[in-house]
Amino acid sequence: MGQMMSAMKPEKCSRREFLRWAGSLSLGTVVFSLVGCDTGGMESDPDRGNPPGEETGITIEGNVVTLDLTGSVARRVAEPGGFLHIDAADMLVVNVNGTIRAFSAICTHQGCEIRDFQNNLFTCWCHGSQFDTDGQVVRGPASSPLPEYTVERNGNIVRITKR
Ligand code: FES
Repeated sequence: MGQMMSAMKPEKCSRREFLRWAGSLSLGTVVFSLVGCDTGGMESDPDRGNPPGEETGITIEGNVVTLDLTGSVARRVAEPGGFLHIDAADMLVVNVNGTIRAFSAICTHQGCEIRDFQNNLFTCWCHGSQFDTDGQVVRGPASSPLPEYTVERNGNIVRITKR
């Protein structure tokens, strides 16, 4: 049973993580375990990706993510130091001294989904690359900055356009 459990697909994982996971398993195991997803403790986001929804204040339409800062989840970035990882949009949102900034959550090293933000640094769990709140690399192995997205704010409504 232990082996079976370790082969189960993570409950919530990015396409890249799924493909990496699936590639490590036999086809029979993949077919058997196409239910649920658990990243086996590799993920630090306790909310499993902050799903969009009216209550959460996160709306995703095409390449535009709209945040209502009164929403139950989006409100986290209403104040300086606030951070959101939106898995469904592969996006990191952070409030830097009152200015909301948004970046791609896809690590520029080998494409892992970045979920951690501590001490003003985004950290990739795969190989430890770190990026500052300008998206610039402060620790490798990544060598390229995180792409930044356009943010327009009108009161409590924040519109983020992915490029
Ligand atoms: S994929 Fe992020 S550090 Fe390697």
